[in-house]
Amino acid sequence: MSKHKELVIGMFGFGVVGEGLYRVLQQTPSLKASIKKVCIKHPGKKRNAPAELFTTDKDELLNDKEINVIVEVIDDSKAAFEIVKTALKNKKEAVSSSKKMIAENLPELLELQLKTGRSFLYESSACASIPVIRNLEEYYDNDLLHSIRAIVNGSTNFILTKIFEENLSFKEALLLAQQLGFAESDPTLDVEGFDAVNKWTLLLNHAYGIVTSPDKILFNGIQTINKSDAVVARARGQQIKLVAQAKKLIGGGVGAFVLPQFVTNDSPLAFVKNEYNGCVIESGFADQQFFYGKGAGSFPTASAVLSDISALRYGYKYEYKKLYHHEPHKLNDDIYLKVFVSFNDLADIPKDDFEWIEQWHAQEDRKYLSGVIHLEKLKKSNWWKENGTSLILEPDPIIENIEERKLKKKSLELAGLV
Ligand code: HSE
Repeated sequence: MSKHKELVIGMFGFGVVGEGLYRVLQQTPSLKASIKKVCIKHPGKKRNAPAELFTTDKDELLNDKEINVIVEVIDDSKAAFEIVKTALKNKKEAVSSSKKMIAENLPELLELQLKTGRSFLYESSACASIPVIRNLEEYYDNDLLHSIRAIVNGSTNFILTKIFEENLSFKEALLLAQQLGFAESDPTLDVEGFDAVNKWTLLLNHAYGIVTSPDKILFNGIQTINKSDAVVARARGQQIKLVAQAKKLIGGGVGAFVLPQFVTNDSPLAFVKNEYNGCVIESGFADQQFFYGKGAGSFPTASAVLSDISALRYGYKYEYKKLYHHEPHKLNDDIYLKVFVSFNDLADIPKDDFEWIEQWHAQEDRKYLSGVIHLEKLKKSNWWKENGTSLILEPDPIIENIEERKLKKKSLELAGLV
């Protein structure tokens, strides 16, 4: 696209994000971008925009030669994929906020971009207002990214904050997240971790060149967290957060998962409350960096879509540098995790699956243990999500040098110190 070309936008969807973008664009005339048509599903709904702006015919946008950018902010991932595919094939640039669609169709979307040479941007699809994709893509264009830990779902973070700090019930907190426009139309996508793992799938690509799919990554949401877990967290001076993380492993590859985790109060992630998201990056020489901003909601999400539209004016494309210009990394599931498990009945816990168990508290009504387990063992089973069992990662959960740890433990045991 030539420099400073006028952008004529065809937009799909006029929900929380779509309407936000419409308003934001009205307030930024300097961008030289205007919405020509908006395609919607339900024409009967009352909308705060002129009726002639809307259509229900997708081809009116996709076949309009004057429209050079398709912005897609709908929540039907199948329809979203068709829209983006057609837009790119019809030589239009595309902007999307559909994390589920991108995560589930990553290989095909990568191929389409190569084939058509068109830009496909989706900064708003992960961490909303935080420019995390472009940072991973451009700034960390090297092999020095040691690890990333992030809160990538605003709704679950909002719910945890409201439950643990304001004593709301889960139901009340979720309802509020829905009313404020943070939650997905199907909120189980947020609550059970699907949204977070979708975002993590696409971020792993920009961080490490990993091409994977959400079903290959170990994940859970916050639905299994018990009130008693919060009591334990408070007693330890910690908080519980839903954390997506990835770490380059000594033995090669990247360990990655999305699970609830105890976070120490001095961690930057402990500072992330309500619908905010945060991302802690550890890299070779810079040490630790922290990105923070609103991770859900109309204007914060629209601001990222706006930034993508603005980037199209100078022909910006993701180059997928880690994938195409470096040796891409692979996921490595051969890691051990330090976990805390709370449960009602010992019979629900497969004790033999653990490498070792450090602590047992089996007396109280709500029982718990701390132990070490291989990631694959969790991936292959569901006991840790069932029968009221709750699994939460310890603050520094990855154990790589397991043999060394076992030897050390043995010698401490022999010396009678544990
Ligand atoms: N439901 C999502 C969240 C919206 O709560 O993070 C932003 O992607």
